[in-house]
Amino acid sequence: MKNIEKQIFDYLSKHLTPKRFKHSYNVAILAVELASKNNIDILKAQTAGLLHDCAKYMTDKELVNFLKGCNKSFKYFKEIVKFSPHLLHSFAGEIIAKKEFKIKDKNILNAIKNHTQGRENMSILEKIIFVADSVSNDRKWSHVRRLQNLAKQDLDKAFFEVLTKKIEYVIDRGIWLLPQTVDTWNWYVSNNKKAN
Ligand SMILES: [Fe+2]
Ligand SMILES: [Fe+2]
Repeated sequence: MKNIEKQIFDYLSKHLTPKRFKHSYNVAILAVELASKNNIDILKAQTAGLLHDCAKYMTDKELVNFLKGCNKSFKYFKEIVKFSPHLLHSFAGEIIAKKEFKIKDKNILNAIKNHTQGRENMSILEKIIFVADSVSNDRKWSHVRRLQNLAKQDLDKAFFEVLTKKIEYVIDRGIWLLPQTVDTWNWYVSNNKKAN
């Protein structure tokens, strides 16, 4: 594992801006803490946290070409390309994690792939990365500290609030809402996963 950590740090420091590198590091730190509180593998949380934005250095065009070159097609691909191609970094990140670092663990790969938009029936690790990405120490919005504390006490409640706030953010700005985020919302609401 140590060797992978060094490889990941080398890759991130070479490809990401210092700000994005710091963000990834902060996400990993929070993810490890949340993993420990939820009794799941902390090394997997660290790896997923560090790698979740590993494709963030690519431009929109590079992301589209990269995914087309990998012959990767997935739900809403055309719509994302048209309306919000930067969101493709999560999908490209999963592929880089597989190719560059030989990561095979499905849970880590899904946590990277779904960190922006979520999906139905997410694993604990997926929810941890989704939440940690939004409330890591480097994030500046007003609810960060409160949601960090909530996540440490009740991951599901924090997950649902982060999901709600992400959707509110998009609607407030009148920008395109990724249909998979709507699918995530609908799944959690219809399966009574909404925290009270
Ligand atoms: Fe991201
Ligand atoms: Fe991120």
